[in-house]
Amino acid sequence: MSLKIAIVTDIHHGKDAEAKKGASALSLMASFATFVADAKPDLVLDLGDRISDEDPQTDLRLEREMSAAFEPIRAWAPVHHICGNHDRDFLSVAQNEEILGQSLSNQTLDIGGWRLVLWRADTLIRRPGGFQCPESDIAWLAEVIAAADRPLLIASHVPVSGHSQIGNYYFQRNPGSSTYPAQGERIRDVLRASKVPTVCLAGHVHWNTLTTVDGIVHLTQQSLTESFVMSPDNGAGEACGAFGLMELGSDSIDWQVFGADAFRAIIPVAQTARRWYRPMSDFATLPGHAEREARIAAFQALGEAAE
Ligand SMILES: [Fe+2]
Repeated sequence: MSLKIAIVTDIHHGKDAEAKKGASALSLMASFATFVADAKPDLVLDLGDRISDEDPQTDLRLEREMSAAFEPIRAWAPVHHICGNHDRDFLSVAQNEEILGQSLSNQTLDIGGWRLVLWRADTLIRRPGGFQCPESDIAWLAEVIAAADRPLLIASHVPVSGHSQIGNYYFQRNPGSSTYPAQGERIRDVLRASKVPTVCLAGHVHWNTLTTVDGIVHLTQQSLTESFVMSPDNGAGEACGAFGLMELGSDSIDWQVFGADAFRAIIPVAQTARRWYRPMSDFATLPGHAEREARIAAFQALGEAAE
């Protein structure tokens, strides 16, 4: 019993923009289709940002072209889509649903002993306000976690680990746009209540990462068309062509990202069911702390005086 998923994210079909090589999206999707035909996954996941937005009319065209690019892939495996912020700047969820021919509501699927949680939490960037995770999406996730009777893979566009953005081209200086800044802590509290092995998978941040919070493994996968990881001597300006394959078994999870920004992690499933103790309080508030600090400070001051 296992679940095998092919993953693509942040395709950004459209014009090249900053380090995103959107003009190469269609040819890379053809490579992804070949990959899916070879890998024979149970399903394909698209974690959102299928396009780089321009205006309502252009975005409709870009999304339709992207849906057509998925058509040969649909012949090999069911494709499940999630909307990213760029899919929502000028288009509604309903427009994306119509183009993709599927509901984009929150959904769960039980396959191969795992429960895939398609957590399609709102990815509209409010201007002003940024990402805001609605109460209804948090409540839905809490219900899924309370009812879980098997391991969970929770897929979303926006990552919720709160992982560091140091070194990230887009988000080092814009960390608030990398996650749901106002709701992240509450979402992590909801996740923490999970009694079953739990893995979270997201896109959006255009890099491969593995972060653990409370024993829950949070993964983010590189964008199909990102180039910022390329150094001058290995082809600056080229899209990295990242796509992933994840095999979730009863004992381990093997996640591999192919392309020029390759990555692999093999994770014991049991490890993702461990929950850490609640963090200790601020040291300064612990009983006896002030006395101990004063005693050590006095000792160190004596030493300094003697030197
Ligand atoms: Fe995004």
